[in-house]
Amino acid sequence: MSGKAPCRIGVLVSGSGTNLQAIIDRIESGEIHAEVACVISNKADAYALTRAARHGIPVVVHENHRFSKRQEYDAETVAILKSYNVDLVILAGFMRILTNVMVNAFPHAIMNIHPALLPAFPGLHAQQQALDYGVRYSGCTVHFVDTGTDTGPIIMQTVVPVEQDDTEETLSARIQKAEHQTFAAAIKLFVDGKIKVKGRKVLISP
Ligand code: GAR
Repeated sequence: MSGKAPCRIGVLVSGSGTNLQAIIDRIESGEIHAEVACVISNKADAYALTRAARHGIPVVVHENHRFSKRQEYDAETVAILKSYNVDLVILAGFMRILTNVMVNAFPHAIMNIHPALLPAFPGLHAQQQALDYGVRYSGCTVHFVDTGTDTGPIIMQTVVPVEQDDTEETLSARIQKAEHQTFAAAIKLFVDGKIKVKGRKVLISP
């Protein structure tokens, strides 16, 4: 391993945090040369907070209902992330669209995981959207975040088959297994300095 300081990752969550757990596990095993500097949740009861605390990671509950403007909420999120000297921001089941305040504060350094093969099925209930459409394959996408809904440059995608008797729950569970691998792989590429962004294209060095 290089003598370089570990990449400091700030993770934004809203829910269960299985993706957060997968990232923590790969950092602890030495696979990813990084440190989770803080976990920020917009929900006080997110189980992701318990997972973070178990690993001694600082947690911040930053609820959005106190803010009438999305920009103001994001400005405070930026201040928290900067106070932890974060290099990379990960949206791991964070169910909010970011404003230019967040996106401009971390250019090409905010990643999101989405449970579909973008640009198909952006937004909420992507797995149910895929089932309703009748696709044979769906999957997950890791992309850089811009101010649109799941529209930023795509870093990695993994294809997952859709079975005839799938429900939203069974398809979500199959996609989530792929998410954990794909998100970790994309984070590792970033941490190892192997990603460049050219317009909409993400170039990965060998
Ligand atoms: C994941 O399936 C992720 O793809 C999805 O939320 C889930 C969070 O699970 N994110 C989105 O739908 C964002 N558009 P987790 O809390 O167990 O990691």
